[in-house]
Amino acid sequence: MSSQRSQPAQDPGAKSKSYPVPYFTSIPGGLQPSQVISVSGTVLPNAKRFHINLHSGTDIAFHLNPRLNEKTVVRNSKIKGSWGSEEKKLPVNMPFIPGHSFKVEIICEAHCYRVTVDGQHLLEYAHRIKDLAAISAVEVAGDIKLTDVQV
Ligand code: GAL
Repeated sequence: MSSQRSQPAQDPGAKSKSYPVPYFTSIPGGLQPSQVISVSGTVLPNAKRFHINLHSGTDIAFHLNPRLNEKTVVRNSKIKGSWGSEEKKLPVNMPFIPGHSFKVEIICEAHCYRVTVDGQHLLEYAHRIKDLAAISAVEVAGDIKLTDVQV
């Protein structure tokens, strides 16, 4: 194609593109089993925390909250304004590292979310909000450069 010649010159700009943070996007039709939400970014050098939230109205069905200062990943839900009990255990070392890029995939299964980081299994989180179709928005916020979100 005739326009191909001009593309390489535009690549550097395209690669450094990032999304505004906090970033919100909708999940058209809500979640359904086997759906994957992927979030790519780079943890800022002095990062303390960031989160990926899946919202059902004013509730947070899934709060995935890497805390760099605690070297763990907190998972929780916020229902009717109250946080539930945190899940914090990790089967591996903290996969998020300041200054490093990452790709998180949240796979919505029938009974849980399954989370991978850079293609490696990290954790599962049993659904507390079970009406998946009502989970219709994603929020990404905190100390990252956000480079891609796919719903
Ligand atoms: C709180 C924190 C919230 C959220 C919650 C998860 O302490 O303020 O932002 O991370 O923990 O349980």
